Amino acid sequence: PYVTAIIVAAGQGTRMKAGVNKQYLLLQGKPILAHTIQVFERCELIHEVIVVVGKNEKLKCLQEIIRPYGYEKVKRIVIGGDTRQQSMYNGLKAVTPHTDIVITHDGARPLIHQEILKKSIQETQIHKATIVGVPVKDTIKMINENGFVHTTPKRDLVWIVQTPQSFSYGLIIEAHERAYKESFIGTDDATLVERIGHPIKIIKGEYDNIKITTPEDLIMAEAILNIQR
Ligand code: CTP
Ligand code: MG
Repeated sequence: PYVTAIIVAAGQGTRMKAGVNKQYLLLQGKPILAHTIQVFERCELIHEVIVVVGKNEKLKCLQEIIRPYGYEKVKRIVIGGDTRQQSMYNGLKAVTPHTDIVITHDGARPLIHQEILKKSIQETQIHKATIVGVPVKDTIKMINENGFVHTTPKRDLVWIVQTPQSFSYGLIIEAHERAYKESFIGTDDATLVERIGHPIKIIKGEYDNIKITTPEDLIMAEAILNIQR
């Protein structure tokens, strides 16, 4: 199958409070987004990569990331929207027409392992929709609006989901088009696929695939990189 990766990097990074898009901050001397793209660049099952960037960041992305690191699979840089979902939709509309499978990923998750990308793509050939996640470590409570406990779900059935999330192209573009027409906004791609009724296979990932969100995540990521590679 022809596999296209879409890496969304068009957020503002407000919770990082760095004054710049967090994905251009350095981890071990290299921009976070460069770490992320590298894993996709090196995966032999992936044919092309689309990076979705903020509206004034196209040149910055080219100059600070794509050119210096020489990423050859990055065929297009697309401008994102106000929400992650809009950014992803813009990316989806820009893929090469013969794309069979799309693997979506957050630019802010630079620690993703190569093997997880491979597994996601292989399982998507079978199931058409897969997401990477890990079981929760803490007990989770569902609560009422009044601040009291409603129920306690069985812990082994509660998972934290991450990216990558992978889909057959026809399925994910249909899910996004439907959500757009119905003004539905979800926090991940899989939610849009769920609401059109397609089953989604869970792939067990790694706890270290953190999303860099707040300043302490940078310290965590540096520490994880030091032991990983
Ligand atoms: N993202 C995007 N377009 C948006 C919002 C988010 O492409 N309009 C991307 C981010 O760049 C990030 C991923 O979606 O790689 C996950 O979003 P998040 O961690 O929330 O990043 P930000 O939205 O940038 O951060 P914050 O919510 O703190 O502002
Ligand atoms: Mg956000």
